[in-house]
Amino acid sequence: MSLLDTPLTRQLGIELPLICGAMYPCSNPELVAAVSAAGGIGVVQPLSMIYVHGHDFREGLRLIRRLTDKPIGMNVLIERSSKLYLDRMRRWVDVALEEGVRFFVTSLGNPRWVVERVAAVGGVVYHDVTERKWAEKGLAGGVHGLIAVNERAGGHAGPRSAAELWEELADLGVPLVCAGGIGEEADFVAALRMGYAGVQLGTRFIATDECRAHADYKQAIVAATEADIVLTERVTGVPLAVIRTPYVERIGTKAGPIARWLLRGRKTKHWMRTVYALRSAWQLKRASLAGGAGEKTSKDYWQAGKSVAGIRAVEPAGEIVRRFAAAGSTAC
Ligand SMILES: Cc1cc2nc3c(=O)[nH]c(=O)nc-3n(C[C@H](O)[C@H](O)[C@H](O)COP(=O)(O)O)c2cc1C
Repeated sequence: MSLLDTPLTRQLGIELPLICGAMYPCSNPELVAAVSAAGGIGVVQPLSMIYVHGHDFREGLRLIRRLTDKPIGMNVLIERSSKLYLDRMRRWVDVALEEGVRFFVTSLGNPRWVVERVAAVGGVVYHDVTERKWAEKGLAGGVHGLIAVNERAGGHAGPRSAAELWEELADLGVPLVCAGGIGEEADFVAALRMGYAGVQLGTRFIATDECRAHADYKQAIVAATEADIVLTERVTGVPLAVIRTPYVERIGTKAGPIARWLLRGRKTKHWMRTVYALRSAWQLKRASLAGGAGEKTSKDYWQAGKSVAGIRAVEPAGEIVRRFAAAGSTAC
């Protein structure tokens, strides 16, 4: 049987078990559409769609539909600290369902309300997890599969390697997707051989023609080696994978003592997380669109994971997907 025929491809009705993961601020409709059109599946990040790329949410989904009729997904970050945000997220999930989206990737919090809405119309929900205790919580909420985010991932990386996560989660009885460190075809084939039902890539798809991130950011990803990726707490309050620029060297990667104290307090931690979320949303948007974060004078951050090791050029997203498909179809 082909390595490319997995529970993920069957559940989602896609050709290749490859997800272009949600990325704030790098997911734009054209990128999502390009990955889906080529046979993988692109995942929409609503905050990125609306606040970075300037689309009304429904219109953005319709723009993707005009570019491809293949399935797409939506990321639902369940952040409990703001009621306003949660209300908006509920509305966006309803809009996505109305527009025909049937694949949802939840992160943080309890995914039950998403599963209830999505499963009612025959859709599928996968939950992002970094260790077994979150996986069990997600499964208690009814999710159909898990995205296992490992220590090499871009965004908020986990503490375990891909192999350790596989060992820890394989007996849970749902399909597992490997997220983190997949930059080239060999990484993709290795993850499928390990037993994963698919992969989720982020960083690889920033260095594409369709991604609207600044050319400086894309070139920094192409130029970076694995050793250039560090985890910083200074952007969101929890470890975030970024490229080590002159600013990161200078300022370090630990949160300041006051922030750390506020993040620990039972009463102050939700408030502090909201402060971080709002500030980082603005900082990361500016950094991705304006470029220049590699300059000595810049205070911006470029997010990227250790998959930079396998990224050698800025390319069309569809070419990458097709190359992965070719490698997967000849491997066994
Ligand atoms: C710039 C960037 C932004 C990200 N933003 C999100 C996000 O908003 N929501 C989410 O669930 N995951 C987010 N991620 C994680 C990706 O969806 C994916 O799991 C991860 O990038 C996989 O690791 P890789 O970068 O090594 O391919 C982000 C990753 C990157 C690189």
